[in-house]
Amino acid sequence: MLRIGMLTSGGDCQALNAAMRGVFKTVTRNAKEPVEFYGFEDGYKGLIYSHFHLLTDDDFTNLLTVGGTILGTSRVPFKTIREPDENGLDKVEAMKQTYYKLQLNCLVVLGGNGSHKTANLLSEEGLNVVTLPKTIDNDLWGTDMTFGFQSAVDIATRAIDEIHTTASSHGRVFIVEIMGHKVGWLPLNAGMAGGADIILIPEIPYDIDRICEVIDKRDATGHRFTILAVAEGAISKEDAKLSKKEYKKKLANYKFPSVSYEIADQIAKKTGREVRVTVPGHTQRGGIPNSYDRVFATRLGAEAGKLILDKKYGVMIAYKNREMVPIPLKEVAGKLKTIDPKARIIKEAKLMGICFGDE
Ligand code: F6P
Repeated sequence: MLRIGMLTSGGDCQALNAAMRGVFKTVTRNAKEPVEFYGFEDGYKGLIYSHFHLLTDDDFTNLLTVGGTILGTSRVPFKTIREPDENGLDKVEAMKQTYYKLQLNCLVVLGGNGSHKTANLLSEEGLNVVTLPKTIDNDLWGTDMTFGFQSAVDIATRAIDEIHTTASSHGRVFIVEIMGHKVGWLPLNAGMAGGADIILIPEIPYDIDRICEVIDKRDATGHRFTILAVAEGAISKEDAKLSKKEYKKKLANYKFPSVSYEIADQIAKKTGREVRVTVPGHTQRGGIPNSYDRVFATRLGAEAGKLILDKKYGVMIAYKNREMVPIPLKEVAGKLKTIDPKARIIKEAKLMGICFGDE
């Protein structure tokens, strides 16, 4: 008997179900022995508190178009994983106990950065772990692409597309705030696809005066409106100079709902223009996965299934240079894939006249 446990952890995204379907079908259709699949509910919580149910073929029919995750998810921050819970339970020991109690051969984790730190820890603790790279942020180290990202780019792009007409009618400045606290892949790609004039990402601190100059220049050359695609984690040059402690202090007394509103306030005061903010928020993680993500997640699932059948553990299945490759979890855990401000895509965007607020 082959016993596999599976969980989805952290923020959800499109095509989680497609990826799990890929794993399930590959293992159940190709294993030389009977297979039992256990679905842990609400991420690592299900493994900690032994909340699970058996998964069958019925769970994986008509799933390709279904967003979210049929297993539920939650965030169990890695920094708290070694701390006992409110009842004094050792979470790591509890996860190991569940794994051994069910006599699992392998645990499959679909997760992003934080989830990979925990997956690596469990692997170091002796569990057989295989992971799949999930996140709309595309910031997981070791893989060129994560599933969920392309669907989120589509949604954020549509948000910008829809702002274009109203921005143009009113001759206003519009800010579309796009998810990404630490990295800017999503705002960069949606901003370029949606034809934003200014894109602000965490990796390139901005100068508000430079942004206002660009808006004034557009106005002077007959462009009635300006659209900014702003990452949740966009940061000004001044704030980037602050120590972590000083920046935290600033945020503790912050009067704006998010950085976009601060930028809007500054632009309105400095240029005298009308500025509006639109926040698509969690719509970027929701709804039907696009066809790219359905295929990509299915492929990752099939490859992960093959790793399980071949008993190759302690790895994440990654997409590198157009190949599916297993990468050791210890190499992935704790690293972010950020955008190099000197990357070609940034240079190309600048050649097109897109301003990043830096020069
Ligand atoms: O990591 C995915 C992500 O959607 C980020 O882009 C965003 O900053 C964050 O999660 C939002 O987290 P939550 O769903 O906990 O509000």
